[in-house]
Amino acid sequence: MLIQWISLENFRNYRTLTLSPEPTLNVLSGPNAQGKTNFLEALGVLLVGRSFRGAKAADLARWDAPAASLAGELARGEVTRSLRRELSRREDGGWVVTGEGCPWARAIPFGWQDLGILYGSPQARRNFLDGFAGKLQPAHLTAHARYRRILARRNHLLQRGGGEIEPWDEQLAIVGLEILARRRAAVALLDAEVRRLYPELSGREQEVRLEYRGSLETAASVERFREALERRRAEELRRGLTLVGPHRDDLLVELDGRDMRTFGSRGQQRLLALALRLAEAGPVEAAVGSPPVLLLDDALSELDPQAQERVLRRVARSGQVFLTTAEASLPDAGTAAWWNVQEGRVSEMTGVSVREVA
Ligand SMILES: Nc1ncnc2c1ncn2[C@@H]1O[C@H](COP(=O)(O)OP(=O)(O)OP(=O)(O)O)[C@@H](O)[C@H]1O
Ligand SMILES: [Mg+2]
Repeated sequence: MLIQWISLENFRNYRTLTLSPEPTLNVLSGPNAQGKTNFLEALGVLLVGRSFRGAKAADLARWDAPAASLAGELARGEVTRSLRRELSRREDGGWVVTGEGCPWARAIPFGWQDLGILYGSPQARRNFLDGFAGKLQPAHLTAHARYRRILARRNHLLQRGGGEIEPWDEQLAIVGLEILARRRAAVALLDAEVRRLYPELSGREQEVRLEYRGSLETAASVERFREALERRRAEELRRGLTLVGPHRDDLLVELDGRDMRTFGSRGQQRLLALALRLAEAGPVEAAVGSPPVLLLDDALSELDPQAQERVLRRVARSGQVFLTTAEASLPDAGTAAWWNVQEGRVSEMTGVSVREVA
């Protein structure tokens, strides 16, 4: 899918900006603190309605502006859709995002926070998996929200001595199994993609392996789930916590048999986190019928020049891509469009030297 144009008004450090990006690789370059990440964030909010940095709506409007807005047009084949997002303050002082999205709009962002997929807590890896599963099937996110509500209710009961907990066990098991099935399917898809992708980016024959680490066996039934809960009932009551279910699970990421959560070098972790994000693209394209828009924030930093070049070659054929960099030139990126970002303004650069790497 292609963003045909986007316009920003009072978004972060932008006053007004309208831009028609290229349908391929768009490199946004400029010094620190000029608005590169903010621009990617605007694209993400326009496409999916929220910030990939996890920012609150209140922080997205330009300081002191009473409101902000984004508009644009998204194309999939012959079909185009208008997108609109308004960020405004309600009477009670809270901020809301309203407007019009598109059911098949998908963005895959990558930013420094994604390094947490490798070295962060299991929560970061679960969020990654749930986000991916949600891009394939939005119903996953609804089920996940329902699961969290059941879990909170059940924990509350455990903290007050248990009470009528059985109906909650059943609910937890039913929704929990739904989440588990989608997560396991998501891991199988990512595993197949990242196995091909990582060696392509690293330039070495290396084996990446993903494995879902669950607190329940693969083919668990509602009955099995409930038995597992019952077995840990005493401990659950003591701790006031639900100890079985997808909210306790993790994702193992191995490179040549080593756990990269613990043993990855900084560059390896960066490249692997990027590969995991890029691995989302193929299955998402298959699910919605068009390649997602890639929003790659500073995706080349800390990589050696050869790895940078391999990443650029790869993303140059991944549909519409936005890539930020503080560098003034990059290894050969093929036919990239270059945009210069300076104090909340973006201008197209012509005659930029795209340095050839021997
Ligand atoms: N709500 C806001 N209103 C106005 N300015 C903001 C707002 N939020 C952030 N900024 C400012 O926008 C500027 C640009 O931020 P951004 O994160 O886009 O920089 P960047 O170009 O990505 O820099 P870097 O290379 O350091 O990552 C920062 O100086 C930041 O303080
Ligand atoms: Mg930035």
